[in-house]
Amino acid sequence: MDRIRIVGGNPLNGTIPISGAKNAALPLMIAGLLTDEKLVLENVPRLADVSQLQRILGNHGIDITVNGKRRGDDAYAGQTLEIDARVIVDTTAPYELVSKMRASFWVIAPLLARMGEAKVSLPGGCAIGTRPVDFHLDALRALGAEIEIDAGYVLARAPKGLKGARIVFPKVSVGATHTALMAASLADGETIIENAAREPEIVDVADCINAMGGRVEGQGTSTIRVVGVPRLKGARHSVLPDRIETGTYAMAVAMTGGDVLLSGARADLLESALDTLREAGAEITVSNEGLRVKRNGAGISPVTVTTEPFPGFPTDLQAQLMALTTRARGTSRITETIFENRFMHVQELARLGARIHLDGETATIEGVERLKGAPVMATDLRASVSLVIGALAAEGESMIHRVYHLDRGFERLEEKLSACGAEIERLAG
Ligand code: EPZ
Repeated sequence: MDRIRIVGGNPLNGTIPISGAKNAALPLMIAGLLTDEKLVLENVPRLADVSQLQRILGNHGIDITVNGKRRGDDAYAGQTLEIDARVIVDTTAPYELVSKMRASFWVIAPLLARMGEAKVSLPGGCAIGTRPVDFHLDALRALGAEIEIDAGYVLARAPKGLKGARIVFPKVSVGATHTALMAASLADGETIIENAAREPEIVDVADCINAMGGRVEGQGTSTIRVVGVPRLKGARHSVLPDRIETGTYAMAVAMTGGDVLLSGARADLLESALDTLREAGAEITVSNEGLRVKRNGAGISPVTVTTEPFPGFPTDLQAQLMALTTRARGTSRITETIFENRFMHVQELARLGARIHLDGETATIEGVERLKGAPVMATDLRASVSLVIGALAAEGESMIHRVYHLDRGFERLEEKLSACGAEIERLAG
């Protein structure tokens, strides 16, 4: 298994191009199943999760063409996928595939809406929490589907098609909002989704469905209105920039010191995290090119943060922020409210010399003067990159094991960081 070797202590200076968002690209690719015409997605990141989803969609009979490089494309240009779901030959998403990538469970919505049936494996547990799918199933039931669970599979049927309905989520869920939105877009009549997720990735999917001839309103607010249409057509859509990748590199610069332009980043997608970074002592400048992050000289100030659904502080930046606070001049507190088991990075950061005390949902981090390099183990996608941030500021060498977690969500991480002066390399096998 690949490892990443880092020798810490170098400030980061230069430019890091921000890729398309993983958490938009995945549901957008799945939305391609809503139409029998071609959906062309631009700015798609090259990630393990994207390739895995390509395999999963192929299993349903979907052809996906990856366009070759175009004149003027730079090395970091996103890829263009042409998704052709003209013919769906199989409405079953098997355990072997779904268990590898949870978001593939969301294929249940377009399969059911377009084909009237779907058999999809339950995604199973996850390192960061139990992550049930009950809200997804309740939403589909509200739209008139018959739902049965048998031998680890969800059997969903709507032979006469789905019907518009009022859906009220007991708790904000990004995935369940995607499921309700996609299913309702082809249902008969009006659907109102209340307590919907407001994440930018939801807005990106809703905008794409509207480009396909859908009728969605209110995306980005807690109440989304969808008027179903009999058929959706093909479209071309560009995936929005990755706000979690943006926040991750901004935290890295704040950790090591330096001056970096995050080109293509959008400040409006992560204002709460930028506010926290400013509080911690980073200078953030917004420009047409993207975001400039600087921290020179002044130390890192402690912060108190609680993770929340958008527009609150994102849970997907919690581990990265924790890494940053390990060297703050004082005590920080981070409360995780979205996932019940998202502190796996704490013990690994402690191996670098961090002082972190856990009490239920809250971590108390006492800042230390220095961190020291050590071998550490990645446990999930965001935890793994928090170890990279810790190691970039630690004295000496760190070795990060199980970096396949990183490849799921960060494109060309070593190249992007070493171009800014980090001493980082991947060691194969
Ligand atoms: C999406 O996961 C993201 N994944 C996650 O990013 C992100 O952490 C999460 O939203 C929250 O922002 C993708 O977009 C592919 P939820 P999702 O449904 O949709 C509970 C990353 O690192 N819940 O919003 O699975 C659930 O257990 C990943 O890129 C139910 O109880 O998250 C959790 O506590 C990790 N029943 C909470 O709601 C349900 O049916 C929020 O989960 C659904 C969710």
